[in-house]
Formats: sequence, structure tokens, C-alpha cells
Amino acid sequence: MRVLSGIQSSGIPHIGNYFGMMLPALELQEKGETFLFIADYHALTTQPKPEDLRKMVENVAVDLLACGFDPAKAVLFRQSDVPQVTELTWILSTITTVGVLERAHSYKDKIAKGFVPNNGLFTYPVLMAADILIYQSELVPVGKDQKQHLEITRDIAIKFNNLYGDIFTIPEASIKESVAVIPGIDGQKMSKSYDNTIPIFGGKKEVRQRIMSIVTDCKGLEEPKDPDSCNVVALFKLFADENRFRTLRERYRAGNYGYGHAKQELFEAMWEYFAPLRRRREELLGNLDYVRDVIAAGGRKAVAEAEQTMIKVRKAVGLR
Ligand code: ADP
Ligand code: TRP
Repeated sequence: MRVLSGIQSSGIPHIGNYFGMMLPALELQEKGETFLFIADYHALTTQPKPEDLRKMVENVAVDLLACGFDPAKAVLFRQSDVPQVTELTWILSTITTVGVLERAHSYKDKIAKGFVPNNGLFTYPVLMAADILIYQSELVPVGKDQKQHLEITRDIAIKFNNLYGDIFTIPEASIKESVAVIPGIDGQKMSKSYDNTIPIFGGKKEVRQRIMSIVTDCKGLEEPKDPDSCNVVALFKLFADENRFRTLRERYRAGNYGYGHAKQELFEAMWEYFAPLRRRREELLGNLDYVRDVIAAGGRKAVAEAEQTMIKVRKAVGLR
């Protein structure tokens, strides 16, 4: 089984990425050949400084390895090491209607938030479809925000196969409902583009400060509180065992327990949870040549796979 997923290098990986995509992908890494890439072509749609983009790619690679992706089991690579994917994007874009792209939620959300859209942002789902189809992926672990992009990918693949013959495997999204949308510190979906994240590997002071600024209602210390509508509780659930989680909920209901206390507990639980991964990350930071080698080797493997698909695609559409 071919498993594939990607993460943009537009910022530092956060706990939404970790629970929504990385953990499910780590489980699948044990079951099928996993391809995992750093989407730097996608990150270009926000026009980062060249130096920042390069650094961020390396940073994301270190974080992925620290989180447990194992180069012996998974192919880790940089999207732009496989330029074939842009060639396929062009070919797929010729069978994708403008209407489909205009209806994409993530595009519409960005516009509603005031981003000035460039054509790259508009055709983002076509590049994503190429990412998935070029490696004949079967299962794509993602968070819920990517559900529609996966549907678009399937539609493009089906249309292509109908027009040109059976070239692409039709992929399926794998979305874990319990962690499908991790809230950010402002209560919206946590996202690198919304400056509302809690980074997996932030410094102690930074992580505490981000957690302390999670938005809650303004109930006073003595008042009983509703655990089910509180973002602090939703995040705490990710890190605590059942007992600890139940106790927190009881404290909310009883009153005389403030949001500050809950946030401190969340901070401690998170800090403890990521401690072993932080140690692994420190080691990787001391051995960046290893990280670069892993990514370069992954890129070579991905190119070989992509080229196999492209030979069929070029022939099918009449380019060669
Ligand atoms: P971001 O939205 O922060 O830029 P990416 O677009 O790089 O993150 O997402 C990488 C993966 O992480 C995708 O599969 C995405 O669905 C998942 N993901 C991102 N944010 C969340 C979240 N808040 N909850 C669950 N999954 C998420
Ligand atoms: N668009 C994805 C995101 O923002 C990242 C991504 C790019 C991706 N290409 C992909 C995810 C292919 C899965 C498969 O989260």
C-alpha cells in the first residue's frame, strides 16, 4: 500500500500538524510504504524570503525526523526535488475547470481573510493532486481541512483516466475524526497561516506564553465552567490520560478553578509529552548533514517513482 502526505514549509510545525497528520501517518508508516514530503512549491504561494524558505525546509525535515519518521521505512523528501510534479500540474490543470477551483474552501477562506490571491494559490489544489497522483498513492492521511482537496484530486484522477486510459490510482483520504481539527489559541483551526499555533518544539517560555494566551470566556475564578466549550480542555485531551482528563473536567464543573490553572496544567502535560522528541531533535540539530542526506536520498527515490508515472502520462496525452 502506498501512503503519502505532505506538510507545507510555510512555518514551524505545530500540534495541529502533529495530531492531525503526523501521528496518523506514523501509524501508517508501519503498514505501507510511506512517502512524506515538505511542500516548498506550495509554500512559495505566500512569497517567503528565499533564505527563510530554505531554512524552513530544513527545520521541517528535522521536526519530522524528531517526531519519529524513520528513513528506513518512509521516503522523506522535498517537493521541489521532483520537478516532474510541476509538469504534471500543468497537464492536470488543462482538465480542471476554473469553477472547481473557485469553489475550494481553503482558497475562499484565504480571500475572506484578506489575502490577495495569486494564481499559485488559486491552482494550489492542482499541484496537490499532482503530488498525490504522481506517486500512485492509495491512502493520504490529512486533517479535515484537506478533505475537499482530496475530493478534487479524486475527481481529477477519474476524469484523466476516463479521457486517457487507466494511468492513475484513485487515492483515498484518511482522516481521523477525533483529531480532525485541532483548535488554535484563538479558537479557529490551528494553522501556520493564522498565527495561532502552538509549535511542537517551541522554547519553554514561548510555549507557555502561547498557551497562556488561549482565548476563553471571561468567567471568574469561583464560577463553574463548561469543559465542553473550552479550547484549553480540547487541547488538554490530546496530552492527558483518561484519569487526568476526567479530573480536569470535574474541576471545571466544580468552580474555584481558574483558566490560568488549567492552562498551567496543559503546559505541563504538553511539555512532558514532547520531552523524548525534544531530545531526539537536539541530536538531529547536532547532525544536520545526516538530515540533508536523508532528504537527498528520499528525493532520488521520489524522482524515480515520479518519472515512471510521467512516462505513461506523456505518452497517454500525446506529448511524446
Ligand atoms: P498549516 O494549515 O498550518 O499550514 P499544513 O497546511 O502544512 O498546515 O498541513 C499539514 C497537515 O497537517 C495537513 O494534513 C493538515 O490537514 C494537517 N493540519 C494542519 N492544521 C491542522 C489542525 N489544526 N488540525 C488537524 N490537522 C491539521
Ligand atoms: N495542502 C496540504 C496542506 O496544506 C499540504 C500538501 C501538499 C499535501 N500536497 C499534499 C498533503 C499532498 C497531502 C498530500 O496541508
